[in-house]
Amino acid sequence: MTLSIIVATSLNNAIGKDNQLLWHLPADLKFFKTTTMGCPVVMGRKTFQSIGRTLPGRKNIVITRDSLFNSDQTFDIIVEPNLESAINHLQNEQEVFIIGGGEIYKQSLHLTDTIYKTIVNTTIEGDVYFSEIDPNQFELVWEEKHLADEKNRMDYTFQKYIKR
Ligand SMILES: NC(=O)c1ccc[n+]([C@@H]2O[C@H](COP(=O)([O-])OP(=O)(O)OC[C@H]3O[C@@H](n4cnc5c(N)ncnc54)[C@H](OP(=O)(O)O)[C@@H]3O)[C@@H](O)[C@H]2O)c1
Repeated sequence: MTLSIIVATSLNNAIGKDNQLLWHLPADLKFFKTTTMGCPVVMGRKTFQSIGRTLPGRKNIVITRDSLFNSDQTFDIIVEPNLESAINHLQNEQEVFIIGGGEIYKQSLHLTDTIYKTIVNTTIEGDVYFSEIDPNQFELVWEEKHLADEKNRMDYTFQKYIKR
């Protein structure tokens, strides 16, 4: 199984504030959707609540210490008590995406094979940040730069890193 992180950060690595994203970039949402479609997505409880719904076409795994979370089965999700348990249960999958947020990224970075990072060309204050990617540990293997347009108000760059 390949474990992949997918994340969008500002130039200063901010990823969110007040449990929300910091920008509205439809092109990045589309990239996220096409990259993760068909694969399980693993997220922290706060990120799940920030999205507010199940992501279609993907097994949604939500990590929480609250054993009663979704006990009324409101959402079509799998609840896991920690990251290790989530990963253990997904061993037979081809690729699994860690989709955030900050706490879950921190706990999974050392286990990750691949990182898909969108850099949004802005410097902005957040209350959750992504770690700087260590070039000794991860190699940049692909990069695609895009200029702002009518729908996407900031320049952005898609990057893919693979563990060395
Ligand atoms: N830019 C991006 O690409 C991106 C992607 C995703 C999210 N975000 C942003 O990131 C922010 C949310 O990140 P966050 O760090 O605050 O929260 P988070 O990582 O989404 O969720 C944290 C929650 O996950 C559960 N959790 C974490 N570690 C655990 C462990 N070891 N065992 C069991 N449960 C564990 C806990 O849930 P309980 O409290 O229920 O126990 C904890 O409160 C939001 O602003 C969101 O918009 C940004």
